[in-house]
Amino acid sequence: MSSSAYLDAVTGATPAHMPVWFMRQAGRALAEYRAIRADHGFEEVVHTPDLTAEVTMQPVRRYDVDAAILFSDIVTPLQGIGLPIEIRKGVGPVIDGPFRTPADVDRLRPIEPDDDVPYVLESVAILARELGDVPLIGFAGAPFTLASYLVEGRPSRDYAHTKALMRTDPATWDLLMTRLADLVATHLVAQVRAGARAVQLFDSWAGALSPSDYATHVQPYSRRVLARIGDLGVPRTHFGVATGELLGLMAADADVVGVDWRVHLDDARARIPAHAATQGNLDPTAVLAGTEVALAAADDVLARVGDRTDHVFNLGHGVLPATDPGVLAEVVAHVHEQTRA
Ligand code: CP3
Repeated sequence: MSSSAYLDAVTGATPAHMPVWFMRQAGRALAEYRAIRADHGFEEVVHTPDLTAEVTMQPVRRYDVDAAILFSDIVTPLQGIGLPIEIRKGVGPVIDGPFRTPADVDRLRPIEPDDDVPYVLESVAILARELGDVPLIGFAGAPFTLASYLVEGRPSRDYAHTKALMRTDPATWDLLMTRLADLVATHLVAQVRAGARAVQLFDSWAGALSPSDYATHVQPYSRRVLARIGDLGVPRTHFGVATGELLGLMAADADVVGVDWRVHLDDARARIPAHAATQGNLDPTAVLAGTEVALAAADDVLARVGDRTDHVFNLGHGVLPATDPGVLAEVVAHVHEQTRA
């Protein structure tokens, strides 16, 4: 047993209790985050290491979670190389001039983290010092999810342009996905070298694909990213939403597979090869209905985990802004208490 329940659970050791963290644990659900945002824009926070570090640590203090996740965004490295992407409030990432042709793909140059995103590396270094035994998770968006924003130009329901490019112009698709894979891998490697002790690859929108389209057009590029991180020896989590039919594929080159709430965890476990740990899978809306409902839903997840020690408790997707932080804190305390070794 090490001093980190999170690292124990994802590396095959027996944790002192089931580790818990929440995707989007920093952010609008916390009054202390909104207080900082009252004076500073989102991108200003991301570009100012002291503010990034403060906002990253807020949920660790408030919830007693077992891991911190760097406060940043999946589009941060794309902005770092100069692409005109803006995060529009209540909408999400929007880009001026969506990518449709090989000339557009040429706008994607390799990233040099020291020069292009120095604030990310400085933030990671501060956090690695300040967090003590609580590991920092570095992250990036996976090639498909980033491609979906670049090609659609904005959040999308059906990914029509992205899937059309994938199917009708395989050479441009390959160029786009290869460049994104290399950019993302370089960005993650830099975070690990700066002090991140685990990484998560967010392929949030991969669930829009059939298993065969995923296997042909997306998996090779995500595996290329994960394989490069594998050389560094830090645990790699691979996450997406509505990926019930992709869980087995997503386990390749991953140490942990994220599971949303649409698949029961015991069913998900049967689809994921034994080498990989699991993470999830509480419905983010279950915590909106008060502590009693939240704890009952958490107990259902725990029952489906059974005696396994390789599960990381989390929501199936991010914390919703309307969430009561007090309920999340009760969920953390409850999971710790119910699973103490
Ligand atoms: O606490 C954490 O999890 C760390 C920080 C984090 C953010 N974004 C901060 C953020 C992480 C890991 C992300 C990843 C991210 N960003 C994903 C993948 C995870 C997922 O949710 O599926 C995606 C798809 C994005 C793109 C994005 N950025 C969206 C859709 C939005 C919300 C826009 C809105 O106003 O509704 C953002 C902005 C963003 N990223 C916020 C935060 C806290 C909100 C900014 C604010 O208003 O303060």
